[in-house]
Amino acid sequence: MAKKNKKKQTMAERADRHALYQDSVQDSEFELDFVEDTYKAIRNKKPVKLREDFAGTARSACVWTKRGKSNQSWAVDFDKEVLDWGRAHNLKKLKPKQQARVALIESDVLTVDTPSVDVVLAFNFSYWILKNRKDLLAYFQSVHRSLNDDGLMFLDAFGGSQAHTTQVEKHKLDGFTYLWDQNKYNALTQEMSCYIHFRFPDKSRLDKAFSYTWRLWGGSEIEDLLREAGFSGVRFYVQKFDDETEEALDEFEETREVVDHECWIAYIVAEK
Ligand SMILES: C[S@@+](CC[C@H](N)C(=O)[O-])C[C@H]1O[C@@H](n2cnc3c(N)ncnc32)[C@H](O)[C@@H]1O
Repeated sequence: MAKKNKKKQTMAERADRHALYQDSVQDSEFELDFVEDTYKAIRNKKPVKLREDFAGTARSACVWTKRGKSNQSWAVDFDKEVLDWGRAHNLKKLKPKQQARVALIESDVLTVDTPSVDVVLAFNFSYWILKNRKDLLAYFQSVHRSLNDDGLMFLDAFGGSQAHTTQVEKHKLDGFTYLWDQNKYNALTQEMSCYIHFRFPDKSRLDKAFSYTWRLWGGSEIEDLLREAGFSGVRFYVQKFDDETEEALDEFEETREVVDHECWIAYIVAEK
């Protein structure tokens, strides 16, 4: 009888990096609550058509169609592999009528052509891949053209002294540990190289599951470019901290000032 020589796979070998990513850094329900509440507060109506740029697995675009019978979405990413994963794991889970209201588009966000929408999302700092003002301005101009007259663009940003340094943040989650590795930082150009790693209870590791090379754009630089692209207003909503425990809260407050925090995270909302 042939000897069974099957080596048991480690947890890292069995893991799916896109599923881990979604479980670690993406809370689409929370983000879409913020999008809907903020749109309602500014425009006094509900948004219906949404485009998710740098969409990755298109999770938010898929969740969007579950939140309203008329909701429609377009998810744009230039990476076929991640869109295919999203099609198999997120889109397929929707009811057929909901699936029919989502389009996954394999394209560069700089050149994509979609129908006019009420909101465009570019979350998880993905637009920081555009590292010079010419490209970021061209992107904002293209989003401006794609929005309805009362459309809003939603972005996010982070900063504070901890952003301007190399460091590794560890978060123990359900069944694995997520690591955010700010691996290199150029203090002159504010370019950074970051990785996402995962660690498992059996000591196996998925190193460099995701890599990013970004420019750490500042709030005023982003606002200047949005206004130059034609947006009439730019609002910042900064995450609040508990005064006593200093823990970050699930609340974002509109403000124009962040005191000298080590780390801040904000949503940026640009009005057409
Ligand atoms: C960090 S993931 C974002 C996933 C998800 N939207 C989120 O909020 O977590 C960044 C994605 O942007 C895509 N991407 C980067 N540059 C792009 C471009 N110019 N056009 C389209 N997609 C781009 C990458 O392929 C990657 O899937």
